[in-house]
Amino acid sequence: MKEEIEKIKRQSQLELKTLLSETDIYQFKSRYLGRNGSLTQLIKLLKNVPQGERAAVGALINAFKDELEEQIEQALSQVHAAARNLKVSEHTVDVTLPGRQLPLGGRHPITIVADKIIDIFTRLGFEIVEGPEVELDFFNFEALNLPKDHPARDMHDTFYISDDSLLRTHTSPVQIRTMQVTSPPIRIICPGKVYRCDSDISHTPMFHQVEGLMVDEDISFGDLKGLLTTFVHQIFNEDTRLRFRPSFFPFTEPSAEVDIQCVMCRGKGCRVCGNSGWLEILGSGMVHPQVFRNVGYDPEKVTGFAFGLGIERIAMLKFGINDIRLFFENDYRFLTQF
Ligand code: DAH
Repeated sequence: MKEEIEKIKRQSQLELKTLLSETDIYQFKSRYLGRNGSLTQLIKLLKNVPQGERAAVGALINAFKDELEEQIEQALSQVHAAARNLKVSEHTVDVTLPGRQLPLGGRHPITIVADKIIDIFTRLGFEIVEGPEVELDFFNFEALNLPKDHPARDMHDTFYISDDSLLRTHTSPVQIRTMQVTSPPIRIICPGKVYRCDSDISHTPMFHQVEGLMVDEDISFGDLKGLLTTFVHQIFNEDTRLRFRPSFFPFTEPSAEVDIQCVMCRGKGCRVCGNSGWLEILGSGMVHPQVFRNVGYDPEKVTGFAFGLGIERIAMLKFGINDIRLFFENDYRFLTQF
């Protein structure tokens, strides 16, 4: 029996050196340790060994088995390592190559200008408030001192949804909504989409406005002028000239529109400014006492100013864009210029 073991052992050590692949190793394993493997056969024959020698022979077989198992493991890990090395050497990576650049998206010009406007006013202590785009007639008109038969309603080209609801025509209703639920001091801006039934080179049915409102005791027209002058200098540049021109809005008294010196001709007069040298950029004024009464404020105690500006208009002047419709056609060649 011992001889038999030695024979198998020698044979196995010879074969072991010839194993090249994983398959070779597994076949080898099954030849020796499998159900009909030579070592397994030996174990079965153990019962024929005389009682006195059986333990010693058993130990011999076990030691051989352990040794063989370990050699198989080793052979396997050698084959695996060789395969790994081959793979690495075949697929070398040049870590000094520059990475692949993904094309970057860009912000829409309206977003760029809106963010800039918001940035300027939040630095000046204004909070951002938003309101609904589907609005009640009451907030869009009535409470802003524009009763049902008011002629100024005509200017708004309103999209009505029902008798008393509509798509808001301006961001001014957010003034009312805010004053109804807070008490002065108030310093807010309200950016958002507004809608008017109008479409040509300078009008789109949807466009963007930013409303501003400041209410406290002793707020004066001087505060309004100071704030809007600072704003114009920051959004255009420090030497942009501006003027306050008397105007009319039902919700402010007195009212003024702000013009800036024409960005195209620098005030000399051209086609863009209709030869006037000036371009209108926003509406403003001191909050009308009736508007304060409509929200339950006492116009004897508080005063305030409001203003409203069109984001598209400012973007057109800043970037020299002559057709408002370009903003919404999403032409890639247009959008990648900002
Ligand atoms: N809501 C006005 C419009 O859309 C703009 C405006 C003018 C807003 C004067 C104001 C203001 O707050 O005081 O034409």
